Amino acid sequence: MKFGLQVGGLLLTIAALGLASPLDQPVPKKISYNGYKVYRVSVAEDADDDVVGNAPAVELQRRRSDSGALTVDLAVAPGDISAFEASGLYLDSTVLSYDLGAEFAAESRVSVQTSTVSAKGALPGLEWFDAYHPYADHVQYWADLHAALPNNSELIVAGNSFEGRPIQGIHLWGASGKDSKPAIFFNGNVHAREWITSIVVEYILYQIVTGYKSDPLVQKVLNNYDFYVLPVVNPDGFVYSQTTNRLWRKNRQVRSNATAVGTDINRNWEVGWGGDGSSPNPSSETFSGYAPLDTPETAALAAYTRKLRDLHGIKLYVDWHSYAQVILLSYGYTCTEFPANVDEQINLAAGIAAAIAKPYNTTFDYGPGCLVLYQSSGNGRDYVTDVGKAQFGWGIELRDTRYGFVLPPEQILPSGIEIWEGLKYAWSQF
Ligand SMILES: *[C@@H]1O[C@H](CO)[C@@H](O)[C@H](O)[C@H]1NC(C)=O
Ligand SMILES: *[C@@H]1O[C@H](CO)[C@@H](O)[C@H](O)[C@H]1NC(C)=O
Ligand SMILES: *[C@@H]1O[C@H](CO)[C@@H](O)[C@H](O)[C@H]1NC(C)=O
Ligand SMILES: [Zn+2]
Repeated sequence: MKFGLQVGGLLLTIAALGLASPLDQPVPKKISYNGYKVYRVSVAEDADDDVVGNAPAVELQRRRSDSGALTVDLAVAPGDISAFEASGLYLDSTVLSYDLGAEFAAESRVSVQTSTVSAKGALPGLEWFDAYHPYADHVQYWADLHAALPNNSELIVAGNSFEGRPIQGIHLWGASGKDSKPAIFFNGNVHAREWITSIVVEYILYQIVTGYKSDPLVQKVLNNYDFYVLPVVNPDGFVYSQTTNRLWRKNRQVRSNATAVGTDINRNWEVGWGGDGSSPNPSSETFSGYAPLDTPETAALAAYTRKLRDLHGIKLYVDWHSYAQVILLSYGYTCTEFPANVDEQINLAAGIAAAIAKPYNTTFDYGPGCLVLYQSSGNGRDYVTDVGKAQFGWGIELRDTRYGFVLPPEQILPSGIEIWEGLKYAWSQF
């Protein structure tokens, strides 16, 4: 791919974001990833959570190769490349990117060109999915979705983030009126840098809002389920990933006895909390917190889960992530126990994966998270399965397996289209 206007694009993006910082705080300087190389490294099956802790690298994502081997993608700063290439990790690695900064620039350039499409009060068309957008534009987009289906939707707030932003989204219902049917509950962008997740969730919302008028399958699912959708459950981290550090993952919680900032919201839930695949170390990317639900974001989402459980039960929960192309069933915290209905779950996931592959032949794996990806303790889907009693308590890792978090904007729409195909299969079964 060829990129132009990179520097101008980045500067404009920062200028367009002037919403995040209280006036008494300086806007932090954006971290440059110019010249960073990204390597995919093979690691041992029992590699612990901080396997790359001493390597001069930023851990991006663990996944399984086509052969099933565990790999980890690492970003290495220009000054550390020779040290890294002299280390053991380099021996079994491939290069994914020669300049991560150039890929970031291409990503922001497009969002600057089209981020004005959200004319206030009118639902943008498919051009919304040509670019990534600043947080304030997402908030406006949810209001626009509500305005497009005013009698069957409302804006919702599950609680507040550590920095005090509302954790907000939209609730949609059908002919029986609100809060009358079992829940379909979607959470997006829990990990800040996984930008594709919130915008694919918005594509799903767009299809529901526009389809309800005429598409019998959409009418059926919305008449039979209440949708509760929170596209960005980690707003502080998301904003920080746009203003300051594109690779930020956690929330922005400050701990009185630690210098490192941020807890992994997806390791802070109560079920399996503190087990393997999470870290007690505040500087780890998978820091679990000091106690279950001690982040405001997780506490709010857990309370919301219990509310939906008590209302009419939860049919389907999806915590949307990237990147790996995997449908993750419970459990993540244990590889040896399974939900009682695991066969039913695998059958549904297989049908969804087959439907996802139809438009572009994109391959999605599926199975219990601990087996098909890696162990992760204290995650949302295990909590919504066990405490929330969801019939299907899942995480879905979106595209891709090459560009990672910096998925080119040209892939937003295809990513939404294939996921909507997968969900239409689910709706046909519900
Ligand atoms: C919403 O309901 C009100 C009152 O029943 C009705 O007047 C209005 O036309 C409806 N709006 C839409 C967009 O269907
Ligand atoms: C930091 O405080 C938490 C309680 O908030 C405690 O559990 C933890 O052990 C403390 N860590 C250190 C290094 O003091
Ligand atoms: C689809 O993907 C599979 C597996 O990745 C591959 O074997 C097959 O050739 C692909 N089909 C098309 C039409 O590209
Ligand atoms: Zn994630």
